[in-house]
Amino acid sequence: MSSSIAVSAQGPEHAPQAEQLAKKLGLPRAQPGRHYELLLHCCDTGLELVDKREKKQKRTVRVDFAKGQAAHRRRQQKKEMLVRAVGITEGMPPAVIDATGGLGRDSFILATSGCRVQTFEQVPLIGALLEDGLQRARLHPETKKIAERITLIQEDARITLQRMQRTGQKTDVVYLDPMFPKRQKSALVKKELQLLHILAKKDTQPDRLFLAALQAARLRVVVKRPVKSSTLTELPPSHSITGKTIRFDVYMI
Ligand SMILES: C[S@@+](CC[C@H](N)C(=O)[O-])C[C@H]1O[C@@H](n2cnc3c(N)ncnc32)[C@H](O)[C@@H]1O
Repeated sequence: MSSSIAVSAQGPEHAPQAEQLAKKLGLPRAQPGRHYELLLHCCDTGLELVDKREKKQKRTVRVDFAKGQAAHRRRQQKKEMLVRAVGITEGMPPAVIDATGGLGRDSFILATSGCRVQTFEQVPLIGALLEDGLQRARLHPETKKIAERITLIQEDARITLQRMQRTGQKTDVVYLDPMFPKRQKSALVKKELQLLHILAKKDTQPDRLFLAALQAARLRVVVKRPVKSSTLTELPPSHSITGKTIRFDVYMI
């Protein structure tokens, strides 16, 4: 992560949270009068990441499952390609490991469909944003039950997948949404994805994650890809569910 980044607080009541986060993430507290490219800001509405690299266009990312696109997708969940790809049938939601949690949108859709989801996120700052969003969702009457189906584990998913392989333990489905290659156009212009690109580790070895996933899944592994991209490895999927910009490759076990 090359950007300068610090933790700030909206007011004195948010200072203890900011202190705690700065310590946990190994980041400095923001100093008055200093410019930072990114600010992790503790405020009344929760934790947000403020991108201040472009003066004219301040952009903010926070995880909010009760409002906006997440709420819309929650209401539309049955139509989601992801739900079909994972193979969710009425009354039989599979247990899912989401090995690439990010900002949790896909995990939330799966949990909305009834799945118990173990979500992994290896970048501490992204994990902090997701944890904050989940905590607020657990307090909101509309999202409480859904958020309670999600367990966030802030570490490299390969550690758990490889342990499962050693102990012969399985989950129903493993879902992977590795970072797409960087492009100027398409969905990647979305602010969340641009920021994820800055924060996420460069080499996450998604092919190795995929191989570990194949060993840990009982029913299927699902991989999200840009629609025109090659498959993650040479192994051909059993089938794909294709949309306008993305595709889900499904590997039946
Ligand atoms: C494209 S984003 C996922 C977006 C997510 N599906 C969503 O709905 O918000 C990929 C994320 O996976 C994380 N990641 C990649 N490899 C990982 C691994 N081995 N273990 C845990 N997290 C990983 C990255 O840090 C990044 O945040």
